[in-house]
Amino acid sequence: MSIPRSKSVIEATETYARTQLTDTVTGHGWDHVDRVRQLARSIALSEGADLDIVDLAVLMHDVDDVKFSGDLQGPANAAESWFASLGVDLDLTAKIIEALTAASFTLGRPDESLSVEARCVRDADRLDAIGAVGIARAFAFGGSIGQSMLIQEDGSSTIDHFFSKLLSLNAGMSTRAGRRIARARHQFVVDFLERLSTELGQESLLQKQLHDSMATMRPGD
Ligand code: ADP
Ligand code: NI
Repeated sequence: MSIPRSKSVIEATETYARTQLTDTVTGHGWDHVDRVRQLARSIALSEGADLDIVDLAVLMHDVDDVKFSGDLQGPANAAESWFASLGVDLDLTAKIIEALTAASFTLGRPDESLSVEARCVRDADRLDAIGAVGIARAFAFGGSIGQSMLIQEDGSSTIDHFFSKLLSLNAGMSTRAGRRIARARHQFVVDFLERLSTELGQESLLQKQLHDSMATMRPGD
């Protein structure tokens, strides 16, 4: 299929995504997509994935995201309409949609059922949530919704988000290149949490969480 592989479809999609992703505050905007694009491209090269499918899926993966549209299928629906308007082959559109749907944590499916392109997009999207960039994004997002910075009893702070989600992303990588990049980024997050505990003059946040989660485990869990 020559049309979608042409530069013009990618260029048109890039322009469209840029106009849709105008959020420059919470870490979900065009800058996020641009970073994920670079990560996804390098992962796709080592995995032998189709670069155009990966690129187009990354470009569309946060357009009409559930956070803004309230619809879990928002990006898939947006992509379907957008690629139809460009006359992109339905089969190819389905592959792009499969890859971008996998990026969603909520809609995530087991690795074995995902295409290699989907695994590249998902790993790249998750990598942008860890490391130094991931830490910055978490605090930006937390601030934007008026969330407390440090641990709260009800688990509603940005640091709680590290324990409920960010520290688990490392183990969920599904490509070799993704795992390699995640290892270093995960370690940076761990070091950050240890350093934060030291500066706060508190017991290690990591040790405390481990201790608390063991205390809430019942025999047989
Ligand atoms: P994406 O927009 O890439 O699909 P998410 O919507 O899951 O990913 O999250 C976007 C960014 O916002 C990530 O960096 C994530 O860590 C951060 N984030 C999401 N929920 C919270 C939260 N409750 N507290 C702090 N950061 C959050
Ligand atoms: Ni994303």
